[in-house]
Amino acid sequence: MMGVRPNRKRLELMLMLLIGLAWGLLLSELMKRTRWQNPADRLKEESSPFPSSQRSRNLPTPPTTAPSTTNPPPDIQAARLFNETRVLCMVLTSPKTHHTRAIHIKRTWGRRCNKLIFMSTKADKELGSVALNVREGYSNLWPKTRAALQYVYKHHFQKYDWFLKADDDTYVIMENLRAFLHAHNFREPVYFGNKFRQHVKEGYMSGGAGYVMSKMALHRLVKLGFSNSSICTNRNYGYEDVELGRCLAGVGVVGGDSRDEHGLSRFIPFSPLHWYPQPPDWYQPLLYYTSPDNSSDCCSSTAISFHYNNAQEFYVLEYIIYKLRIFGINRELGPLPKKKASSRTTWNHFQTTNDETGHNALIKMVPGKNVTKPNYRTKTTSKFKK
Ligand SMILES: *[C@@H]1O[C@H](CO)[C@@H](O)[C@H](O)[C@H]1NC(C)=O
Ligand SMILES: *[C@@H]1O[C@H](CO)[C@@H](O)[C@H](O)[C@H]1NC(C)=O
Ligand SMILES: *[C@@H]1O[C@H](CO)[C@@H](O)[C@H](O)[C@H]1NC(C)=O
Ligand SMILES: *[C@@H]1O[C@H](CO)[C@@H](O)[C@H](O)[C@H]1NC(C)=O
Repeated sequence: MMGVRPNRKRLELMLMLLIGLAWGLLLSELMKRTRWQNPADRLKEESSPFPSSQRSRNLPTPPTTAPSTTNPPPDIQAARLFNETRVLCMVLTSPKTHHTRAIHIKRTWGRRCNKLIFMSTKADKELGSVALNVREGYSNLWPKTRAALQYVYKHHFQKYDWFLKADDDTYVIMENLRAFLHAHNFREPVYFGNKFRQHVKEGYMSGGAGYVMSKMALHRLVKLGFSNSSICTNRNYGYEDVELGRCLAGVGVVGGDSRDEHGLSRFIPFSPLHWYPQPPDWYQPLLYYTSPDNSSDCCSSTAISFHYNNAQEFYVLEYIIYKLRIFGINRELGPLPKKKASSRTTWNHFQTTNDETGHNALIKMVPGKNVTKPNYRTKTTSKFKK
C-alpha cells in the first residue's frame, strides 16, 4: 500500500504534462492556421511555391469521391450559359501540391470549367497536368505563368472565349463567373480580377483571387507583349501578378471593374471562412477601389472567387454553395445582367491599323466560329432578356 501513492502521484504528474503538451500543440496549430500573410512578404518564402502551403499540411485526408453535382450543372440557364460563355480554367500547381490541393479542385469546382488544365513542372496522370519546362518555386511564378499562358494560347485558343488563371488554393464559382462575363465582350481587350493599387499605375489583379482574360486580351498579350521584352519583361523572377499587370497595360488591355452594384468585391483574395470577425489588416490599403464604408459585408452576394483555401475547405464551400438549401427562402437571382455597350473609347488609344491586333482581328483569327457562333449568340441573348 505504501508504495502505491508516490507512483500514482507520478502518474498524475505525467498525465498533466501530457494534457499540457496536447493543449500547446493544439493552440500553436490554431495560431498557424489563422495567421495572415502580407502579400508583400510573399517573395521571402522561397521554398514554398504558394504562400499558404503550410496551412494544408496536417489536415485529415478529404474524401476521395466527389459529392454529386453534374457537369454542366442541371439548371437550364446555367447549362445554356455553360455553352455560351466558354471558359478555360488554367490552374497553376506544383508537384508538391498535386495531391494535397490540385486534385481537390478537379473534384470540386474544376468540373464546371469548359476546360480544366493544371500547369505544373511534372506530368501527373491522375491530375492530367502539363509539365512546363520552367523552374519551380514562388519566385519563379512569373516565367511559369508566362509559359503556361503561351501553352494555352498555342493549344487551346480557338475553342474558348475567356481564360481564367487560378492558383491551386483558389475556389471559383463558375456560374457566377459566366454570368458576370456574359455581359462583356470577349473581343475587347479586357481582364478582370481583384484590383490592387500598388506597383502598376493602372492597377493590377492580385494573383491569388485569380483573374480572367478575354480572348482578345490573351491574343494581344502573347502576340504583342511576350514577343517584345520592352513591354513584357523576360526576367526570370518577379511577382507574377504585378508583371502580368504591367505587361497587359503595355499592350492596351484594360483592367476592368468587377465589383457588384453595391461596390463589393467579386474576386476575393482570401476566403469568407477567414474574414470574420475582421478582414486581414493588409487587405483594405491594397485595394484599388475603396470599399463602401456602409458595408461590413465580406463579399459580394454574386462572388466569383475565394483564395487561401485548403483542400478540406474546398469541400466545405462546395457543400454550402451548391447543396445547402434554406427552407422557405428563395435566393434565386434575377435574369442575367445586360450586355455592356462596347467601351471602345477606353481602349481606343491602342487601336492600330494592324489587322492582327485590331478590333476585327478575332473574327478573322477564329475561322472555326463562322459556322454557328454569330447566330447562336444573338438568339440566346434575346432569350435571356425577358
Ligand atoms: C449545350 O451544348 C450541347 C452540345 O453542343 C448540347 O447538346 C446541349 O443541348 C446544349 N445545352 C443547352 C442548354 O443549350
Ligand atoms: C516593342 O515595344 C516598344 C514599346 O512599346 C515599341 O516601341 C517597339 O516598336 C516594339 N518592338 C517591336 C519589335 O514590336
Ligand atoms: C452603400 O452605399 C452605396 C453608395 O452610397 C450604395 O450604392 C450601396 O447600395 C450601399 N450598400 C449597402 C449594402 O447598403
Ligand atoms: C469558316 O469559313 C471559312 C471560309 O468561308 C471556311 O474555309 C472554313 O472551313 C469555315 N470553318 C469551318 C469550321 O467550317
